[in-house]
Amino acid sequence: MTSDGSVRVAAVGDVHLDADVLGRYRPALEHLGDKADMLLLAGDLTRHGTADEARCVAQEFGGLAVPVIAILGNHDYHCDQEAEVTKVLEDGGITVLECSSTVLRVGDMRVGIAGTKGFGGGFAGACASEFGEPEMKTFTRHGRELAERFGVVLAELDCDVRIALTHYSPVPETLLGEPLEIYPFLGSYHLAQAIDAATAVGLAVHGHAHAGSERGTTPGGVPVRNVAHPVIKQAYNVYQLAPVLTPAPA
Ligand SMILES: [Fe+2]
Ligand SMILES: [Fe+2]
Repeated sequence: MTSDGSVRVAAVGDVHLDADVLGRYRPALEHLGDKADMLLLAGDLTRHGTADEARCVAQEFGGLAVPVIAILGNHDYHCDQEAEVTKVLEDGGITVLECSSTVLRVGDMRVGIAGTKGFGGGFAGACASEFGEPEMKTFTRHGRELAERFGVVLAELDCDVRIALTHYSPVPETLLGEPLEIYPFLGSYHLAQAIDAATAVGLAVHGHAHAGSERGTTPGGVPVRNVAHPVIKQAYNVYQLAPVLTPAPA
């Protein structure tokens, strides 16, 4: 925690670890406790979602001086081993969220983190709809339902300030640099709706958009940060999370 009471949130996504990448991040993580109060991993932790690759992630990001909170990305689902990947990470001391949450105490602050992989679907004016073929309905419904479940978990957190952790983006601003044609596969406005429906959300962190931009804002004013490693170009970024003041009930 900083002297003015801000929580220091380190975050990175899309580290895509396998045996060849092992060791790339660890040297920068050894003194993380001096710089941050937690580390968030925004999905795509592995290359193809195998248990062996997850062991590389656990080796690289386990046993740090700060709590490590992760969600999985689409790559971590590729080999249909997401349950095993999750178990390997948790055995390594990493908390893995999926439409679930955790609360960390930092000084006097209770910091609530809700996480989901999320899904695509697109943004206002250019999004998929639950209409027509069953395949299109299934695609669109998956994103909406995940966002709705995530929104309930986020809103119900008992804490002083909330963080939303997703793999897919809640806003189009942080996709800037990606081809417009693939925006519907990179994020969903349903995630932003879920974030804006909760109170005291101080930060939304996502990955997935390797060619996107770091900074954006939800329509409700929550800062959004795309922490995909190819975007931030370092082992992690650190964001200051100040207490979010909400108006007292009338
Ligand atoms: Fe990725
Ligand atoms: Fe991804």
